[in-house]
Amino acid sequence: MEYISESEKQLAIIDQLRRRVEALSAEKGRPLTYHVVTFGCQMNARDSEKLAGILERTGYVYAPTEDADFVIYNTCTVRENANLRVYGRLGQMKKIKQRHPGMLIALCGCMMQEAQVVEKIRRSYRHVDIIFGTHNIFKLAELIQTRMVTGKPVVDIWKDTDQIVEDLPTERKYPFKTGINIMFGCNNFCTYCIVPYVRGRERSRAPEDIVREIEAAVADGVSEVMLLGQNVNSYGKNLEEPVSFAQLLQRVEKIEGLKRIRFMTSHPKDLSDELIEVMAHSDKVCQHLHLPLQSGSSKILSKMNRHYSREDYMTLVKKIRTACPQISLTTDIIVGFPGETEEDFKETMDVVSEVGFDSAFTFIYSRRTGTPAAAMEDQVPGEVVHDRFDRLLDLVQKKAAEATGRFEGTEQEVLVEEVNSHDASMVTGRMSQNILVHFPGDQSLIGRLVRVRLTKCHGFYYTGEITG
Ligand code: SAH
Ligand code: SF4
Ligand code: F3S
Repeated sequence: MEYISESEKQLAIIDQLRRRVEALSAEKGRPLTYHVVTFGCQMNARDSEKLAGILERTGYVYAPTEDADFVIYNTCTVRENANLRVYGRLGQMKKIKQRHPGMLIALCGCMMQEAQVVEKIRRSYRHVDIIFGTHNIFKLAELIQTRMVTGKPVVDIWKDTDQIVEDLPTERKYPFKTGINIMFGCNNFCTYCIVPYVRGRERSRAPEDIVREIEAAVADGVSEVMLLGQNVNSYGKNLEEPVSFAQLLQRVEKIEGLKRIRFMTSHPKDLSDELIEVMAHSDKVCQHLHLPLQSGSSKILSKMNRHYSREDYMTLVKKIRTACPQISLTTDIIVGFPGETEEDFKETMDVVSEVGFDSAFTFIYSRRTGTPAAAMEDQVPGEVVHDRFDRLLDLVQKKAAEATGRFEGTEQEVLVEEVNSHDASMVTGRMSQNILVHFPGDQSLIGRLVRVRLTKCHGFYYTGEITG
């Protein structure tokens, strides 16, 4: 049979697999269940929604634990401890699988793009049934079907791809907000980072496809989207008709019914004046910018291949704050990059003090096989790194509490996300600045934008009361 497109082919396979799943359910006298475990970043979280969408469409029913008929691990390899967690879980699954006839275990995501990982799993974790990578998640149904038909393990890893498969089902984790991929891959090759090797080259989706997907999500109850890419500021440069990220934002802004737009991640080297302008004047683009610093030392930044200096970063921060005085700035910082001296580290501390981030993710440098930094001399000894990490974390937390406190007593618009897990008479929502607020309310408010007076700051979050 000839298919017009890859997505059409996959939808047909989903239908075939559905019949197989129905037959297995009838045999068991209950529906087949699935569970997706996600590691890593927002990209992986979004990919997992696509995996869940395909599984739901084939008739699998969501199970809250790994005691399910189909369990899939969507892995991350950005730092070594992400890998270790996956091996730990897989070890435990061996026993669970023995108790569970017919259970299938699948692995996908960034870790699987590394040949030595796949080799290790095939050798030492023989209870894994299906392995695939980051470029072919749209094939999930086909891979399950192959496994069921042949009864043999299935391994399908692509090195790279220029394919973007549109229009497959997805199952959103939250009814009112979702991530939307605007681009895949990364071309930056920061010297510490494995992502370009496991996610392939940068590919932007066509703006019409993005807008169409968001319109459909809004029609389905979504009020907030997070536009996702490793470096959203270089969006659209390689499209046949180039479109800038700022222009894309303006198109998305026009979508009726959409209330909030967030995006992640912004590389400082490509952040344009045009984008700052759009952020300053938009009603929907949130007043939050995640702007990874990585290091405050220009020498280290250059060794990291980040293409900006400490001064460039500070200039950018001033420009953004002048245009958007209410903005919240968050960041990522790596401690212990090869060659980092106490002096370099102090420069990072200085930048954190000067900027006063609303929050910062701090990471201990992790040596990733195959990246240029892994081969650099002067790897910093573990105890030195841990000491620096602790000092940085203290400062980050102190500064974050100071920065967050600036809204105390004001009234802010809050998107309600969930009933508070500790106190059922309260709900939890998020300000445009991405700050959490807890206040009295009930289920009916979920997904709504309400006005809340922020009565008390508790370090990283507020308590308040609804005013309208
Ligand atoms: N594309 C994003 C980052 C994606 S990875 C950007 O450029 O900002 C998320 C964060 O993980 C990075 O910002 C970096 O701080 C951290 N990270 C990446 N590789 C790392 C490594 N080898 N060791 C420690 N942290 C790392
Ligand atoms: Fe990694 Fe740098 Fe690409 Fe971010 S921009 S994903 S840190 S290589
Ligand atoms: Fe991890 Fe892959 Fe994201 S390595 S951080 S899941 S792109």
